[in-house]
Amino acid sequence: MTTKHVDHVTGVETTGHEWDGIRELNKPLPRWWVWTFYATIIWSIGYWVAYPAWPTLVGYTKGVLGYSQRATVTEEVATARAAQGSRREALASTPLDQIKANPDLLRFAMAGGGAAFGTNCAPCHGRSAQGFVGYPNLNDDDWLWGGKIDEIYKTIQYGVRSGHKQAQDSQMPKYGIDKLLDDKQIDDTAEYVLSLTGKATNTAAAERGKKIFAEQCVSCHAEDGKGKADLGAPNLTDAIWLYGGEKPAIVESIRTGRGGVMPAWQGRLDAVTLKALAVYVHSLGGGR
Ligand code: HEC
Ligand code: HEC
Repeated sequence: MTTKHVDHVTGVETTGHEWDGIRELNKPLPRWWVWTFYATIIWSIGYWVAYPAWPTLVGYTKGVLGYSQRATVTEEVATARAAQGSRREALASTPLDQIKANPDLLRFAMAGGGAAFGTNCAPCHGRSAQGFVGYPNLNDDDWLWGGKIDEIYKTIQYGVRSGHKQAQDSQMPKYGIDKLLDDKQIDDTAEYVLSLTGKATNTAAAERGKKIFAEQCVSCHAEDGKGKADLGAPNLTDAIWLYGGEKPAIVESIRTGRGGVMPAWQGRLDAVTLKALAVYVHSLGGGR
């Protein structure tokens, strides 16, 4: 043992360690701190025993209290479901067109439909259902597949070109890709389509395009260009465009036939949620 050395300035004993003439004061941790430290260690051991704590090769230590957040959540969800139970039943048994007559049921359907829309539909149709290029706005009264509540319900259940047997299905020919029309004919037809909204810049071309339209397009878009909802063929005479109303977008639509796909939701969402979604979308403003 070396002899004790006391620092003159502070009057505190040093540890005897010295670097370049600098000595380390011997100042141990306060007792109360050390005891608190030990106490927390003991507490943590108790905690490991009581609660799920350590990962193991096949799972984790469960703890003697049997606490599980998953079980708690499952229980809470079950309680919430039970509370909603009677309304869910009412929604399931009420025909679609009668739901709006019952304010309580309508509120329930709107809340459920709105929540389900936010999770499942917003990624494609937008938070407020405003749509994007290729993804229709669901707030307006312009419908590809019909805006009556049972038509909307059908679209949601089975999707569009989704591969489901009952899907809303039809395919505009790929006039350019499949060489059904050459570039000039496509350009002429696009001019005619533009003329339907008074935007054509070349009347001679539009005149030629009119003949092609009559031969090729009216079976789906109708004589007047207003479209047919049973074929999902949009109205070409209004200001609402799924893919764009400028000439390059129209040429591209004729060239490729587009063919947007919306997934089928039956089987992915339960029947009550599907109904609530139909009510919600129908209520967005454009329902017929
Ligand atoms: C993966 C993207 C995608 C998701 C997710 C999606 N949709 Fe769609 N939806 C589309 C596309 C694309 C169309 C247009 C199909 C077409 O070109 O005819 C469409 C069309 C529709 C239509 C028909 C609109 C009309 O004018 O007739 C309705 C109604 C609709 N969606 C509702 C929903 C609802 C409700 C959900 C959520 C449960 C949903 N969609 C989720 C892509 C999607
Ligand atoms: C077999 C039916 C069918 C025929 C024939 C057809 N279309 Fe279409 N057309 C559709 C459908 C369905 C859509 C919607 C595609 C989608 O939703 O992705 C569409 C979309 C369009 C669009 C895009 C509209 C928008 O809002 O962006 C244009 C433009 C168009 N068609 C023009 C034509 C022209 C011009 C012809 C004739 C040369 C034609 N179509 C022939 C069914 C048809």
